[in-house]
Amino acid sequence: MRLCSALLLCLAAAVTSAYVVSPRKMWTKLILTQQWPQTFCSMEHCHPNISHWTLHGLWPDSGMDCNNSWAFNSSEIADLLPDMNKSWPNLLHPSSSGFWKYEWHKHGTCAARAESLNSQHKYFSKALELYHKLDLDSILSKFGIIPSEKYYTFAQIEGVIENFYGVKPKIQCFHPSKHQPNADTQVLGQIEICFSPDFTLMDCEKKQDWDKYWAVDKQSGFSVCDHHIPVCYPLAS
Ligand SMILES: *[C@@H]1O[C@H](CO)[C@@H](O)[C@H](O)[C@H]1NC(C)=O
Ligand SMILES: *[C@@H]1O[C@H](CO)[C@@H](O)[C@H](O)[C@H]1NC(C)=O
Ligand SMILES: *[C@@H]1O[C@H](CO)[C@@H](O)[C@H](O)[C@H]1NC(C)=O
Ligand SMILES: *[C@@H]1O[C@H](CO)[C@@H](O)[C@H](O)[C@H]1NC(C)=O
Repeated sequence: MRLCSALLLCLAAAVTSAYVVSPRKMWTKLILTQQWPQTFCSMEHCHPNISHWTLHGLWPDSGMDCNNSWAFNSSEIADLLPDMNKSWPNLLHPSSSGFWKYEWHKHGTCAARAESLNSQHKYFSKALELYHKLDLDSILSKFGIIPSEKYYTFAQIEGVIENFYGVKPKIQCFHPSKHQPNADTQVLGQIEICFSPDFTLMDCEKKQDWDKYWAVDKQSGFSVCDHHIPVCYPLAS
């Protein structure tokens, strides 16, 4: 049996997210995206030294780069920095705030169209609050989904999240088969859980949206996990 950890040596891809741009429309959903550092770093060749799910971003479903004149200023979130460092680390450049600046410009300035998120402090603190409220690491491990050398079925992972939170997440994997023709596994990489504008949980995707999401995500390093292929949830090395 090929071990999940050995598979990681073979991964390489760029991670970007591709979303449809509709600059003037008010958003109707927030997507809280968390990543598994071990998978991200296998793709990007970084060394995470982190074994918890970390924030990737809080993304409104509509708009990108909504206000380029609204500069990121880390002094405005000085009180959040210890938590930001732990919960929303820049895996590629641990001592840089560049990741937060990027997320603010691309997504935060659009989220800020809503009064509830119309400052950098409101935006980043809400992302942290939702992240802690979800407490994904505890929920996964409580229901037996822990990083391991063995494989999970996709249904096991999706089932835990759907049953616990009561909403449909979007779960993304890295698919080495795009790079290695005969690979028969996929690596758990990113979990999106969605919120309505009043910050209550909601489904990320309707069933009929699946094909659309799949097509869009295929342009990035991650794509929606395949229901029929075993899932590797790799241990931190
Ligand atoms: C990884 O983190 C642990 C605990 O935080 C620390 O003791 C160790 O020195 C770190 N290792 C590296 C390579 O940064
Ligand atoms: C863009 O951000 C600047 C700085 O915060 C603000 O003064 C301006 O009103 C914003 N523009 C829009 C269209 O929201
Ligand atoms: C950054 O924010 C701090 C605290 O709100 C403020 O004092 C400072 O003037 C801001 N810096 C810039 C360049 O806007
Ligand atoms: C956040 O982490 C960076 C890099 O490790 C460090 O330089 C900075 O002092 C940390 N800030 C806080 C408030 O913990």
